[in-house]
Amino acid sequence: RRVAVLISGRGSNMVSLIEAARAPDYPAEIVLVVSNRPDAAGLARAEGYGIATAVIDHKAYGRDREAFERALDARLAAAGADLVALAGFMRLLTPWFVERWFGRLVNIHPALLPAFKGLDTHERALAEGVKLHGATVHFVSSEMDAGPIIAQGAVPVLDADTPDSLGARVLELEHRLYPHALDLVASGRARLAGRTVSVADGPA
Ligand code: GRF
Repeated sequence: RRVAVLISGRGSNMVSLIEAARAPDYPAEIVLVVSNRPDAAGLARAEGYGIATAVIDHKAYGRDREAFERALDARLAAAGADLVALAGFMRLLTPWFVERWFGRLVNIHPALLPAFKGLDTHERALAEGVKLHGATVHFVSSEMDAGPIIAQGAVPVLDADTPDSLGARVLELEHRLYPHALDLVASGRARLAGRTVSVADGPA
């Protein structure tokens, strides 16, 4: 599979996917990294790996979300991408784009969905006193952070945690979880089954 990674910031999850995809037996290749922000630090990191990058600045399209997405879609098509991985991509996508890519569009969210959708997940987890927190990779549907779940991982919440210390523990987990989940999707072991995802055991 030919994967495009969409970022808005530092791109540490993007790096974990790029690193994993360097293994010869990994079922996906990262063919393009796109940022909606020209100043995203992840762009230089992708270039350092010799990966093609593109900036599609949403601000150039004003309030016309679909025009932004049509430009994005055209760039993905030009790269021959057939799978899209959101990695800290901070734009909500319209139903047009999500439906066009449904089943081929995945996201990582720093919480155990369906708990803590949206932003500031680590702060909210601490405020709720949950004892387990984690990360989720899911297919994107038009409802935010609500698509079919592909893989999850959990970490303990410790008494002394701050949002930063908890976030760092979750991020380390994300860097293992996302390559695993993309492997499941790209190899065809994770398949959509209605509102959920069934995952076949063992190698593809
Ligand atoms: C990650 O925590 C990811 O789960 C969330 O945004 C953060 C992105 O970090 N969606 P990075 O850009 O991958 O370093």
